[in-house]
Amino acid sequence: MSSIKLQYTEVGTVKAMRGCIVFVRGFKNCINGQLIKFGYGTIGMIVGFNEQEAQVLIIKETDKIKTGDKAIASIEPFETPVGEKFIGRILSPLAEPLDGLGPLEEAKRLPIFPESPPILVRQPLKKTLETGIKVLDAMIPIGFGQRELVMGDKSTGKTTFVTDTILNQKNTGVICIYCAIGKPRSALAKIVQLFKDHECFKYSIIISAGASAPPGQQYLAPYVACSVAEYFLHQGKNVFIGFDDFTKHAWCYREISLLLGRPPGRDSYPGDIFYLHSKMIERACYLDEKRGGGSITFFPIVEILEGDLTAFVPSNLVSMTDGQIYLSSSLFGEGQKPALDLGLSVSRVGSKVQWSAIKNLSGPLRLEYLQYRELLRISKLKTSGHSDETLEKLKRGAILTEILRQDKDKPVPQEVQVMIFYAFNKKMMNDLTIPEVRVFQEELFEYAKSKNPDLLKLIREKRKLEPEIEKGMTELIGMYVKDILSRREKPAVDKMDDYVDEKPEPAGAGKK
Ligand SMILES: Nc1ncnc2c1ncn2[C@@H]1O[C@H](COP(=O)(O)OP(=O)(O)O)[C@@H](O)[C@H]1O
Ligand SMILES: [Mg+2]
Repeated sequence: MSSIKLQYTEVGTVKAMRGCIVFVRGFKNCINGQLIKFGYGTIGMIVGFNEQEAQVLIIKETDKIKTGDKAIASIEPFETPVGEKFIGRILSPLAEPLDGLGPLEEAKRLPIFPESPPILVRQPLKKTLETGIKVLDAMIPIGFGQRELVMGDKSTGKTTFVTDTILNQKNTGVICIYCAIGKPRSALAKIVQLFKDHECFKYSIIISAGASAPPGQQYLAPYVACSVAEYFLHQGKNVFIGFDDFTKHAWCYREISLLLGRPPGRDSYPGDIFYLHSKMIERACYLDEKRGGGSITFFPIVEILEGDLTAFVPSNLVSMTDGQIYLSSSLFGEGQKPALDLGLSVSRVGSKVQWSAIKNLSGPLRLEYLQYRELLRISKLKTSGHSDETLEKLKRGAILTEILRQDKDKPVPQEVQVMIFYAFNKKMMNDLTIPEVRVFQEELFEYAKSKNPDLLKLIREKRKLEPEIEKGMTELIGMYVKDILSRREKPAVDKMDDYVDEKPEPAGAGKK
């Protein structure tokens, strides 16, 4: 676009205003997405036009616009500054710093509505994006270039999925962008603090259009985030973007469309909301090696109401992403965190992107887990004794449930996940109580680092279950389980009581 810079500017006159929309007459030429200046730094963007007038969305208003004001259009599309130095910064969708660390140094400018990369320059997804969230890495693996929708009711841990994934990208070379749309300042402050505490700003960027930002900025935020990511993509880097959240983006676009007088459709959303989101989602990609092999991975978040997956915007997004993570408020209430509902969550990319070791170990887990949930439900109805086989299944299910639990802000490295799932598969945890399983997982990394650091390196290097690795793991885990069991009689047991859940254990889980 920028190569066809025409040399003239046009001047129009403001005819009317309606909310964040200004109607301007007098432009002979105009294109959608074109930048309009009103003087004193007030700017807008053309979002529609007819024979008489152009409809301009106000992006930044430094001075109140009045009817009769002049509007100046030079034929230039809306572009955003991008650059290396954006890493570590918090910025608005207009690339203005929000962190008080001085002006942002731009390397170049990129259009915010480019065409997404065509299919011929893409390659199939095959590399793991390590999220560090056990349940995801094991059962819903994410690959570079994937679009995975995170959906759930209010306060079910959606944002935590994104922040945990960002936390785990330390030392992986993945650049992370957290795009906040319509968030209150307090919520953003929490994220900023989290990023500071875990040194995420070394490789992360926050782009924020808060709840108090003009609708124009909230509308543009995800596009700008994509453009900032594309700058790194074209250098062959891997980028991860979390959009928090698309529900607010859709609301904001609905507001703009209603002000423009476009006919409202289902739930009053304009007819083109599907097009709008799908065009943006297409910007996630995994480029082929000739083009540097970079990637952009998306985690769009969408908030739903009372578990209603079939609402308009969420079901649109489900159909245009490569899978969804569904977070259930009832699981969250039970204390199963992350509250991922394995029955309703899926990755359509599948196990191609997984480490072979994790793929082999976690293959049967989903079925085992779902069967356990079913069994648990039935066994609660049954009052008389259970068969030994049922008790065994319940015990294993309870251990698996504990394995799939994970605290916030504590990503687990893949090599440790391999060990945990190996121990579960080989029934090495069967003698442990549930609180001990918890201790097992929490201290496994430190234990392995002190006893056999080479094994950890080897697992990461080979990524598959070789005899040498299996032998090493069997020895190490055997020793470790003995170590945990030996703590039972000692006074240190008291310490372990801290780990006991407030929640009563599932029926039969504690019995042996
Ligand atoms: N795995 C987890 N373990 C413990 N607490 C969690 C976990 N995930 C989320 N939480 C807590 O639940 C609350 C809601 O999480 P949040 O990610 O903000 O939800 P949402 O974005 O869906 O509104 C937060 O207080 C967060 O600390
Ligand atoms: Mg949230």
